[in-house]
Amino acid sequence: MTTNSESVTLINNSNGKQIDLPLHSGTMGPKVMDIRKLYSDMDVFTYDPGYTSTGSCKSAITYIDGDEGVLLHRGYAIDDLAENCNFLEVAYLILKGELPNAAEKAKFESDISHHSMLNEQVSFFYRGFRRDSHPMAVMCGVVGALAAFYHDSTDINDPHQRMIASYRLIAKMPTITGWTYKYSQGQPFMYPQNRYSYSENFLHLMFATPCEAFEPSPVLSRAMDRILILHADHEQNASTSTVRLAGSSGANPFACIAAGIASLWGPAHGGANEAVLTMLHEIGSVDRIPEFIAKAKDKDDPFRLMGFGHRVYKNYDPRAKIMQRTCHEVLDELGVHDEPLLKLAMELERIALEDEYFVSRKLFPNVDFYSGIIFRAMGIPTSMFTSLFALARTVGWIAQWNEMLTDPDQKIGRPRQLYVGAAPRKVQPLEQRG
Ligand code: CMC
Repeated sequence: MTTNSESVTLINNSNGKQIDLPLHSGTMGPKVMDIRKLYSDMDVFTYDPGYTSTGSCKSAITYIDGDEGVLLHRGYAIDDLAENCNFLEVAYLILKGELPNAAEKAKFESDISHHSMLNEQVSFFYRGFRRDSHPMAVMCGVVGALAAFYHDSTDINDPHQRMIASYRLIAKMPTITGWTYKYSQGQPFMYPQNRYSYSENFLHLMFATPCEAFEPSPVLSRAMDRILILHADHEQNASTSTVRLAGSSGANPFACIAAGIASLWGPAHGGANEAVLTMLHEIGSVDRIPEFIAKAKDKDDPFRLMGFGHRVYKNYDPRAKIMQRTCHEVLDELGVHDEPLLKLAMELERIALEDEYFVSRKLFPNVDFYSGIIFRAMGIPTSMFTSLFALARTVGWIAQWNEMLTDPDQKIGRPRQLYVGAAPRKVQPLEQRG
């Protein structure tokens, strides 16, 4: 971060007080105005619900230019990474800042494989949940409970423990997600297999059973790997900000990631891929698309086209392009080209992209629009979709958490408010209250 001589002068017209707020420049992107002295010098707070104009931290992990549809991790474009790296190489990059060389890659893959088992006691913890629980409810519980099983990596002031906790989370999330699915199906838990890649192992945990041999398909493993890469990090979104805020108080990493999972669950965030499928089912057939487009445009109707629009991208989401390609590869591999929901999705995409309402508001399909269709084709139930997003995003969350803890500017997060409640008043005796 560089502070230039430029500043913004703010004058309070009610009392004539004035302040020069310094401007900082990052490597790329808009400058930021440093308002840290605003309250002490001017007696006012800023008001920015939804943080649409607020930078909450500095970060060297991910860069997004929403107008241009650019997404970079540590300077590398997302399509370059999705094309040329596997998920664990991208995870290493996000966590450590550089792509691994051959020896580093082999060691990281081996380290992650060797942390993928869960303490056997965790399997009993699952048994406390109803079989029909929502998978995200189970994921929040199990990930939060990891702090009770791995005490030896909860000291956030010890860099070694922080790294062990980070490896454990990345390594165990496929097992946790796979077991969440198996539990919902009433099938036995499968144990991780070190001979597999990260994505092959995840497919094994999801789809293998003890009864017959299972070999993960290379096309589906590659597609899963790509989906994980595309969801690995996305800057200061709601769940990542939640992880940082939880971590800012000194909470342990497992609790922070559980908080991130809770935040991701919402339909405006990670729950959107599930909501896309629910919406496609509700639309049902191509001839009903105009009716739903009209609903989405109606200000008095809360309905929104799920999988369209993004807070930051006001251009085609670069992840959605790769996801669209992957989607076709998967459907080819599985021979389900005539899948009616895919046809419906493609027609919805075509109509929305030509409609003035969506064009003028720059509402393009986002990554969730296609990921839901891919998951469905792979045989993953809709209720599991957001759990897969959580699995992929864990590396981003934990990298951002590590970055926050080593930032000398880090403080406990404590936003202020505009109070609009009652003015001071006295408690009335019970018999006199109306
Ligand atoms: N369908 C219909 N209208 C929409 C939609 C939509 N999906 N998204 C935005 N709009 C309209 C909105 O009504 C508003 O219209 P007007 O200017 O006339 O009032 C305009 O577009 C701007 O919308 P906004 O609500 O100010 O935009 P936002 O940045 O607050 O919301 C969003 C972003 C993602 C929450 C929203 O687009 C949305 O709800 N999309 C559907 C849910 C979805 O797909 N979410 C996944 C996001 S990507 C995955 C992730 O990062 O988690």
